[in-house]
Amino acid sequence: MDKLLIEGGIRLVGEIAISGAKNAALPILCAALLSSEPVTFTNVPQLKDIATLLALLAQMGVKVQREGNTVTLDASTLTEPVAPYEMVKTMRASILVLGPLAARCGEARVSLPGGCAIGARPVDQHIKGLQAMGADVVVEHGYVHVRTPRLKGTRLVTDMVTVTGTENLMMAASLADGETVIENAAREPEIVDLAHCLTAMGAKITGAGTDILRIEGVPRLHGACHHIMPDRIETGTYLCAAAVTGGEVRLTGAQASSLDAVIDKLIEAGCTVQSDADTLRLTAPPKLAAVSLRTAPYPAFPTDMQAQFMALNCVASGTARVRETIFENRFMHAVELQRLGADIHIDGNTAVVQGVERLQGATVMATDLRASASLVVAGLVAEGETTIERIYHLDRGYERLEEKLAALGARVRRGK
Ligand code: EPZ
Repeated sequence: MDKLLIEGGIRLVGEIAISGAKNAALPILCAALLSSEPVTFTNVPQLKDIATLLALLAQMGVKVQREGNTVTLDASTLTEPVAPYEMVKTMRASILVLGPLAARCGEARVSLPGGCAIGARPVDQHIKGLQAMGADVVVEHGYVHVRTPRLKGTRLVTDMVTVTGTENLMMAASLADGETVIENAAREPEIVDLAHCLTAMGAKITGAGTDILRIEGVPRLHGACHHIMPDRIETGTYLCAAAVTGGEVRLTGAQASSLDAVIDKLIEAGCTVQSDADTLRLTAPPKLAAVSLRTAPYPAFPTDMQAQFMALNCVASGTARVRETIFENRFMHAVELQRLGADIHIDGNTAVVQGVERLQGATVMATDLRASASLVVAGLVAEGETTIERIYHLDRGYERLEEKLAALGARVRRGK
């Protein structure tokens, strides 16, 4: 069942609940490796990537208990500090076990994740940081081998802002001997959520959410209970879907404060957006205005929302310039959107999108998680039926997608 069939042209109206954030849950579940006591996580989204990570942790000897969106991990006996290629190749974020294993076990063998559709995705900053903390790191036969009697606190400056690089090094530093300062740290809300979880486990971290993190190493971390933050990219995706269909939606369990750059762009496009502590409401205009954007590290416009906004610009009035500065190959949704009748011209890392009167439904192919989300957004507004192939990409990052879309009035179903 790897196709999604969408009947376009229906206004999305109604209310849905936002799930826990995939990109917060992935590093936070890995943080359980740092403690010999059980850690419980609530609001964990039920996604393919989460299942893959839990299987990886289980084969290391972690006891995994899962009931719905609650997960308890007990890493008291780690038998195998190894992340094999067969598992890492299906989920790059498995690299997030590297820092915790090095810190907790003093050794780790983790397969290099390799590239993916959107770019080469190297992990040199993760390795460089561990080496600076005194670890002996050898990369051979496609694996990163890390050995260290105990990591030492030090001052690190990453060459570029890296989200999982910052997360790996922050986790490693939490058990190091002495203080670690990470400069040029990523400021994403998922980093802040991870820091909250580590602090609940006894870590001493200041500066989360700024570009300078200070971590005072402690001898051990204890158990805790942590509630995963809402998924801001899922939130932004549904806001885009409502915007393109001229809809009116209410998203509960959302966190508007983590989406300022996206909300600003939706308002610029002509939407009305209201929010309170944990709810977001969007009312779309009859016709959207094109909005240009440039992706950059948080708090700027997130690269994970670029594809969805390209779809929005396809049916807006005017011309938009969409510039991707984070990944070198994150425009693969453009050719698929063109199959739906979009007018897009790619010029290096900038896509020039000329809004058209309407898109026509067609069969298109998903290439990566957020590209597939942009095809869903486009399919919801295209005339007629759109069939999206290879939707296993979507299942990696969107919990109960059809159910949530149907609750908003969309006509969507899975097919062979
Ligand atoms: C995280 O990926 C997210 N994944 C990505 O979301 C997101 O697009 C990305 O951050 C940027 O916000 C998770 O959190 C699991 P980076 P990550 O390290 O950490 C270069 C999704 O759709 N770089 O911040 O892998 C890298 O090539 C996914 O949910 C190095 O050169 O991204 C890129 O150009 C897709 N060397 C830039 O830095 C390194 O050692 C930013 O990458 C690390 C990164």
